[in-house]
Amino acid sequence: MNAILVASNRGPVSFTLSEDGSLSMRRGGGGLVSGLSEVAKDLDVLWVCAALSDGDRGAVRLAPGGRLDQAGYETGALRMLDIPPATFHRAYNAVANSTLWFVHHLLYDTPNRPHFDARFRREWESYQTYNEAFATALAEEAPHGARVMVQDYHLSLVPAMLRVERPDLRVAHFSHTPWAPPEYFSLLPDDVAAEVLEGILGADHAGFLTARWGGAFMDCCETVLGARVERASRTVTHEGRTTRVGTHSLGVDGKALWARASEPDVESHMAALRAQVGDRRLIVRIDRTELSKNIVRGLVAYREFLSAHPEWHGRVTHLAFAYPSRHDLPEYREYTAAVQRCAKEIEDEYATEDWDPLILNVDDDYPRSLAAYRLADVLLVNPIRDGMNLVAKEGPILSPGSALVLSREAGAAAELGEHAVTVNPYDVSATAAALHEGLTMPEAERARRGALLATAATALPPHRWFAEQLDALG
Ligand code: G6P
Repeated sequence: MNAILVASNRGPVSFTLSEDGSLSMRRGGGGLVSGLSEVAKDLDVLWVCAALSDGDRGAVRLAPGGRLDQAGYETGALRMLDIPPATFHRAYNAVANSTLWFVHHLLYDTPNRPHFDARFRREWESYQTYNEAFATALAEEAPHGARVMVQDYHLSLVPAMLRVERPDLRVAHFSHTPWAPPEYFSLLPDDVAAEVLEGILGADHAGFLTARWGGAFMDCCETVLGARVERASRTVTHEGRTTRVGTHSLGVDGKALWARASEPDVESHMAALRAQVGDRRLIVRIDRTELSKNIVRGLVAYREFLSAHPEWHGRVTHLAFAYPSRHDLPEYREYTAAVQRCAKEIEDEYATEDWDPLILNVDDDYPRSLAAYRLADVLLVNPIRDGMNLVAKEGPILSPGSALVLSREAGAAAELGEHAVTVNPYDVSATAAALHEGLTMPEAERARRGALLATAATALPPHRWFAEQLDALG
């Protein structure tokens, strides 16, 4: 039996079903998984996650009790939950990604959405059922007194549910997203807002990536629940229980990243990119194609920069990597199309026979992304709002001489903002000016700031980030 358990929607691996019926396994994606995978491998952790696809379901159904490690896969201790597809779809797409994600990232076009009607109520019931499935599995797997580390907005109800079933456990919840301010959080129906907060308050420790997001959570507990909030000791007391609110600012394992980025596949992508762009200066961005990442305004800012600075025509290329994400949601498909349209307009306006002002790639290629980091002169990270943003931390490690243009609304700005060129993500002209400032920053200044950025980015690598939270549980 394992004494530490982790629960998250997306697990460390995913499976694809090929036409001949065979299953192939690959690493899961996203910031949460990349941070936790290394940690889980080294500690004796049992990970509980959901089956996300038909491939995952195929693998789970052949595994005794959903334990993939016991079915012979090299995953580390892993239990995958086969939640009925319709329930999963409503919990993951409709509630987690279209509601809670939108609330925390302030993404709604409020004259039209959200729209909390009878249909939402069915979706919310599915979210409750899905959270219950996790709580039940954790209660079954956890030995007496175990520590359970529940991850993210998909599982906000689990801590309270688990406390009812297993009061002996020590439970932490960690939010990898920002947290909405009370006025925006209160868009949620009152009972749903209260249930989300009380769900997390079922934990002994509620972790956030920055003090700002933890502060917003405390504000919501005070305003929505009338809970007692002690800001100095960072505790919330509600219905006789006290939850500590911690800040754990996930960073990067610089050595491991360099080791991966020095492998031959990355080097050959570097050579190919160099051949494609010649000796031009490079502005790089790497994102999931995600509404909160603000890719369209980033492209429009680049267009404004080109228009204001004809002296850079032919001397700079923008490499924009926007890999696919959450394509079950129409907003995300439309957003991908908007990104592609905007890129096309820039090419039509500025491309010449021997100059590509913009190279947009919408497929996922990790070694190519690492190669782009290593070649960057300016890294553009301009989200509307972001829990942390690990791209802002990985870039300065792999390209110590590059300038970082960073949104002040990314969690990473709390640690990196001082040494980056910070921007208001809605201010396209300021972003255009920041790109120019990055390109023209003297080399010595870029190197000086780059060293400070890399130090800040590696301050709390995943192992220490996780260890801090375990310590906080006692
Ligand atoms: C963010 C969330 C993670 C999520 C990741 C990828 O980083 O905080 O929980 O796993 O995005 O999103 P996806 O919906 O593909 O899991």
